[in-house]
Amino acid sequence: MGDRIRIDKYLSEMNMGTRSEIRELIRRGRVSINGIPCRKPDEKVDTDSDTVSLDGQKINYEKYVYLMLNKPAGVVSATTDNREKTVIDLIKDSGRKDIFPVGRLDKDTEGLLILTNDGRLAHNLLSPKKEVDKVYYAKVKGRVTEQDVNVFLSGISIGENEPCLPARLEILVSGDISEVNLTIQEGKFHQVKRMFEAVGKKVIYLKRISMGGLRLDPGLKPGDYRRLTKDEIEYLKNIT
Ligand code: URA
Repeated sequence: MGDRIRIDKYLSEMNMGTRSEIRELIRRGRVSINGIPCRKPDEKVDTDSDTVSLDGQKINYEKYVYLMLNKPAGVVSATTDNREKTVIDLIKDSGRKDIFPVGRLDKDTEGLLILTNDGRLAHNLLSPKKEVDKVYYAKVKGRVTEQDVNVFLSGISIGENEPCLPARLEILVSGDISEVNLTIQEGKFHQVKRMFEAVGKKVIYLKRISMGGLRLDPGLKPGDYRRLTKDEIEYLKNIT
């Protein structure tokens, strides 16, 4: 047995139009439940066992949707924004209208962003208590040193009440422009940028490459997204 919900809510969740458009679809007899045209927007359907069709096409109801987006620079990690393009604007066919980004990447940050409507999984992935690793690749202006590695590992202060949790810094290139991978388990505001500022350096490029061991699919160009596989969803649920 699935949930029993109103047909207009069902269609709205499945992104079939605005409330008034949906009412119109129902009024015109274009929606059927188990083959019988439905005329009442408050009719209840079982999300598992009932078959709902629009113009004879079966709708596949999904309670939860999980997407992996390679966030491009220039879009904000929000569901709506008056001025800026959001990550949700990039998603054309999620099948659900209630998806949101799991945490935030800055407007100029790229990389792995999970989008879902599963609030529980999102909460778990973001809770510092769950110690989920978030790995960032960064280009940093200034020479990153072993001393920075040690400071980050001991828990650097970035001007908040509590210092950051220990973070693993791997130096890939140390030079005028350094390249690093940094693993953190929190998501404080501008955290990576502020950690480097605290050691007198500036992040000039930032990309999240993995979350909870789930790596950004190298086949996804910035702005591309795909559904997570069943295994990936199970994996994320198991680590939290
Ligand atoms: N840390 C930052 O400074 N920015 C991000 O977008 C993510 C982590």
